[in-house]
Amino acid sequence: MSNTDKVVLTGIKPTGMPHLGNFIGALKPLIEQSKTHKTFMFIADLHALNTVHDAKQIKQHTYEIAALMIALGLDINNTILFRQSDVNEIYQLNTMLMNITPKGLMNRAHSYKAAMDKNIAAGADVDSGINMGLYTYPVLMTADILLYNADIVPVGADQKQHVEFARDIAGYFNHTYGNTFKLPEPVIGQDTGLIPGLDGRKMSKSYDNTIALFAPEKELKKKVMRIITDSKLPEEPKNPDESTIFHLYKHFATESETKQFAEMFRQGGMGYGTAKTMLFEKMNAVLAEPRAEYERLMANTAELDVILENGANLARQVATKTMQRVKKAMLG
Ligand code: TRP
Repeated sequence: MSNTDKVVLTGIKPTGMPHLGNFIGALKPLIEQSKTHKTFMFIADLHALNTVHDAKQIKQHTYEIAALMIALGLDINNTILFRQSDVNEIYQLNTMLMNITPKGLMNRAHSYKAAMDKNIAAGADVDSGINMGLYTYPVLMTADILLYNADIVPVGADQKQHVEFARDIAGYFNHTYGNTFKLPEPVIGQDTGLIPGLDGRKMSKSYDNTIALFAPEKELKKKVMRIITDSKLPEEPKNPDESTIFHLYKHFATESETKQFAEMFRQGGMGYGTAKTMLFEKMNAVLAEPRAEYERLMANTAELDVILENGANLARQVATKTMQRVKKAMLG
């Protein structure tokens, strides 16, 4: 089996518009990979349920993620793009896997432990606000991965443990019932380096320093102009490596443009206002076309429904076969 025969699978939770840091660190590499690998990509709406209890919001964010991935150039011919909840076999496999997943494994999950720690620190009951969806989150994620026979699961570092659990659970299953599942492998995105936000710290929702990926042009410009800099005068030479402006620029420009930009920093003579305008123009040149396509799709959600339905139909073909194997193995 050549590397490109391997099945890649990943899920994205519909919890709001991704920011530029998500784009550079995760979405862009995923889209590149989808060009050379058979890929399952789904919007993990069931995984959003343990925190989002508003159907309208989940539905809207599901469309946003689908539109965004297509607008960014996801290869729709090589990729099965679908909504997790549209394939009924996911609920079935989830139920089956509950019975071979050790409770102790769930107790060790980082996200569950973090939720308990927060309660303890706040002096609340350890289980306060923790529902079974959160506690069994890794089982559902395992079902996602095993249902579609994934070999490779690209995820952020925070999800690595969940994929390792999926591998463990597949192993328990195979040991108990005979070889039924492939063992998936987590692939953690290569380090794109720190992607700084407006204040120079890592771009993150929790720091409130993000730039939305498809922010309207005016808002993008406003945000870029708000990037915090030091107080060096235009004529002073500047170190590009210490500048948020430069770090963002290099993810949107070619290598030679990046070199030139670095040189302008070092030489002196370029003020931060000019540098920000150049960054904005570069970003906007890259994002304008996908942003327009994103807006078009969001105004035509019926088109997205068709794409997601087609994806679900294709995903279901694989899921049905897996469930036949599982039922036979467990129930005879
Ligand atoms: N839990 C993942 C996240 O929060 C999303 C997800 C759900 C996922 N199912 C998956 C990722 C299966 C990879 C494989 O980011």
